[in-house]
Amino acid sequence: MSDTKASPPATEGGARAAPETYSFRQKLAHWGVVVLVAAQFLVFDAIGRDFGRGMKTGDWVYSPAATGHILFGLAILALMVWRLKLRRDEGVPALPAAEPGWAATLARLTHAAFYLLLLAMPVVGALAWFLQSGNAAEMHEAAANLLIALIAIHVAAVALHKFRWRSNILSRMM
Ligand code: HEM
Ligand code: HEM
Repeated sequence: MSDTKASPPATEGGARAAPETYSFRQKLAHWGVVVLVAAQFLVFDAIGRDFGRGMKTGDWVYSPAATGHILFGLAILALMVWRLKLRRDEGVPALPAAEPGWAATLARLTHAAFYLLLLAMPVVGALAWFLQSGNAAEMHEAAANLLIALIAIHVAAVALHKFRWRSNILSRMM
C-alpha cells in the first residue's frame, strides 16, 4: 500500500500485471454506491420539495428526505474518494483483450465520467442546499439526468460483453 511508487498501478487495458478481478473492497464500494445512488433517486429525491419550499419561503426544513439525501450524498462522495485510492493502490483488471478498441475506449470514458459526476454532484448539491443557489440546483438536476444515461449505457455494456463477446465481466465485480 505504501510502495505505490515501486509498483505502479495497472491501468484499464494496460499490459502491466493487472489483477484478475476487482478486490473485495472495490466490490464493496461499487455495490455500496449502487445502493446509495438508487436511494437518492427513489427515496430521497423528495429533497426537491424541501428545497423548493426553502427557496420560496426561506423556511429550510431538515425533513427525513432532506437529511437522508444529504447524508447519503456525502457517503457517496467518501466512497468515490476511497475508490480512487483503491484503484491507485490495487489497480483494476485489464479490459478483455479480444474485444474491439472502441469498446475499451467507451468503457474508460464511462468509468471516468462516473467518477467525475459522483465526485461533483455532492459538491454542487451542497452548494445548492447550503448557499441556496438555484443555479447549482439546476446543474445538480442536469447531472442527475446524465447519471441516469450513464447507468443505462453501463448496464447495457455489461449485457453486451456477456452476450456478444461472451466475456463474463460481471463475475469480476461479484
Ligand atoms: C452523488 C450524490 C448525489 C446524487 C446521486 C444526488 C441525486 C439527486 C437527484 C436524483 C435529485 C432529484 C433531481 C430532480 O428532481 O430532477 C436531487 C436533488 C437535489 N439534491 Fe442531490 N444528489 C446527491 C448529493 C447531494 C448532496 C450531498 C446534497 C446537499 C448537501 C444534495 C442536494 C440536493 C438538492 C438541494 C436537490 C433539489 C434540487 C432541486 O429540486 O432543484 N444532493 N439529487
Ligand atoms: C449507480 C450505478 C453504477 C455506478 C455509478 C457504477 C460505476 C462503475 C464504475 C466507476 C466502474 C469501474 C470500476 C471501478 O473503478 O470501480 C464499474 C465497473 C463495473 N460495474 Fe458498475 N456501476 C453502477 C451500476 C452497475 C450495475 C447495475 C451493474 C450490473 C448490471 C454493474 C456492473 C459493473 C461491472 C461488471 C463492472 C466491472 C467492469 C470490468 O470488469 O471492467 N454496475 N461500475
